[in-house]
Amino acid sequence: MTGQLLREALTLDRYPRSNTYDQQWVVDHLMGPHALWCSESLLQVMPLRPGMRVLDLGCGTALSSIFLAREYDVDVWAADLWVDPTENLRRVDDAGLAGHVHPIQSDARQLPFARGFFDAVVSIGSYHYFGTGVDYLAYLSEFVRPGGAIGFISPGIRTAPDFTPPPYLANRWGPDLCTWLPPDWWRSLWERTNLVTVDTADFVPNGWADWLHWLQTCAKVGRGYEPDEQMLQADQGDLLGLTRVVARLK
Ligand SMILES: C[S@@+](CC[C@H](N)C(=O)[O-])C[C@H]1O[C@@H](n2cnc3c(N)ncnc32)[C@H](O)[C@@H]1O
Repeated sequence: MTGQLLREALTLDRYPRSNTYDQQWVVDHLMGPHALWCSESLLQVMPLRPGMRVLDLGCGTALSSIFLAREYDVDVWAADLWVDPTENLRRVDDAGLAGHVHPIQSDARQLPFARGFFDAVVSIGSYHYFGTGVDYLAYLSEFVRPGGAIGFISPGIRTAPDFTPPPYLANRWGPDLCTWLPPDWWRSLWERTNLVTVDTADFVPNGWADWLHWLQTCAKVGRGYEPDEQMLQADQGDLLGLTRVVARLK
């Protein structure tokens, strides 16, 4: 597939901001569903104002951090556990955002920031790795100012967590899928803390279809992930999608 075909395949009307980026760059640094589409979907329901201090938690290769800084004129602390922050700094410098995106290696459970430092926390495809515990939101919210926002997008399964998976899910089942939880599960977890007001807890519109389209396109350039592509294809949008949750601190 040529660069032009890749660009055409990954240009969708729903994502006008993402469409302006080099799609080969996005594919080269993928770690899950399209990081810019997910960021844009989250920011459609999570307003950020210029100059805000934003924590991008589990930023991976920092594509979302670069997107946030460039599109919304915010300062971003790009925190991740597995990806080398020096590599992320190089990408930030290449994007001309030195001084606006600050890469750091950190475990989400041991954050090295001052209490109340951030106006907002954003997490793309990562929150379900560390945030499913009953005490995690309380911990994270210590780093956010009163009235600040926390929002994430993660894979989700639209059913009660103790359901019996159909065969196409059972074939791919493992501990990771246990953390693919539905919007209402997250809403309940967060609201019970009495720390936040949940403004949004839904499935991203077209999330399933866009995720599948992304995997099918990546497969054409040797970067697909067949088990998830097959699972999404078999699902037909019945159970699988992208869970989106946004809340404000009281
Ligand atoms: C599926 S990748 C998503 C990365 C990126 N946000 C994206 O959308 O491409 C999940 C990321 O979560 C990060 N992660 C997992 N556990 C973490 C933890 N305890 N603290 C910080 N980051 C963590 C990993 O380092 C990884 O980069």
